[in-house]
Amino acid sequence: MLAVVVHDVPRELSADVVLDRCAALAAISDEPERLTRLFGGEAMRRAHEQVGAWMREAGLGVRTDAAANLIGRREGPAPGAPTLVLGSHLDTVADAGAYDGSLGVLVALAAVERCGPLPYAVEVVAFSDEEGVRFGTAYLGSRAFAGTFPAELLDLADAFGVTMAEALRTCGGDPDALAGVARAGEPLLGYVEVHIEQGPVLEARDAPLGVVSAIAGATRAEARFVGRAGHAGTVPMDARRDALTGAAEWALAVEATGRATPGLVATVGALQVEPGAPNVVAGAAAATLDVRHAEDAVREHAVAALRRSAEAIAAARGLDLVWTPRLQTPAVRVDGRLTALLGESITAAGYPLVSLPSGAGHDAVALADLTGVAMLFVRCAGGVSHHPDESVERADVAAAIDVLCALLRRLAT
Ligand code: HGY
Ligand code: MN
Ligand code: MN
Repeated sequence: MLAVVVHDVPRELSADVVLDRCAALAAISDEPERLTRLFGGEAMRRAHEQVGAWMREAGLGVRTDAAANLIGRREGPAPGAPTLVLGSHLDTVADAGAYDGSLGVLVALAAVERCGPLPYAVEVVAFSDEEGVRFGTAYLGSRAFAGTFPAELLDLADAFGVTMAEALRTCGGDPDALAGVARAGEPLLGYVEVHIEQGPVLEARDAPLGVVSAIAGATRAEARFVGRAGHAGTVPMDARRDALTGAAEWALAVEATGRATPGLVATVGALQVEPGAPNVVAGAAAATLDVRHAEDAVREHAVAALRRSAEAIAAARGLDLVWTPRLQTPAVRVDGRLTALLGESITAAGYPLVSLPSGAGHDAVALADLTGVAMLFVRCAGGVSHHPDESVERADVAAAIDVLCALLRRLAT
């Protein structure tokens, strides 16, 4: 039995500790001038080292599983006690803010530390590669944890030709042992994730916290337009097979589809051009696609239409098209009982209860295949996220720790 050190930390101090820790993690980056912490890199190793130390200070047993998930666990009172899983992610997008993912892991840790012993086991998990920036997918760690990770993704290569399997090995994971990461069949109380809202609703409703009613479904794919590279000074305009302008025409079609379809968001976030020289007509241009909607049928219809549009644009411009699906996650319904208990904890703490859907994806999407999930949103200024201006209020962080702690206690009764 681990000696659990219970710090009855005053709420304000807890929030200060969480914010200081978010700032400390924000300084751990793959890039000197901005926060970018990708799966499997040196910055992620240092972040795991730091968060693992904080987990040990809180009296948790710490391990890293074969999917490189960092797991802090406090055992229950007796073997076989069910486990409540908390957590989020520590990887970031490029030029990220300090709170997307990190706040969820650290608020969970603060609540577990403050709550002290519970009649069930509890885990705080920092899931691997939630953002999926390096390999174009998402939810590596949480899908392995849920037992739903498609092994063929291990062969995906990053921009430097390093495969996901190789990246896993370099950060202490084991691509050949992912089946052992899955937690299916264990007694679980559920999964609760705290996350910044990444949207404007809570600020507009003057509410520090909210419960998530559903998580939008998402599709990621790549449309690679292939033409013919040529000399920018000598290839006549009517003799070109310019891959970049084909991809650009399609990107505008993606935007138009998003604008024309109620509740749909459709984004081309990255365009990789080859050879990428100012005096060369582009021979190839790979555009990423990200489409989200609360209703799967609407999203799937939009994705099919956008694939046809890419094919038509390519044909009209004498280009070839290589369409590569990357990720497909259905819209997720949250667990009614867990979400109701979370709502009661918010109300009992004296805060207004706001229920809202999540346009952003989260590890809860993957965990929903394993157990009931609930999410607690924290207000963030202007709804800004995936941007260095991401920010939260100390009082809202304190509220999140209070409410999560109250939920842990409600689940103990
Ligand atoms: O893309 C998302 O919705 C999340 O930030 N991974
Ligand atoms: Mn994110
Ligand atoms: Mn996130």
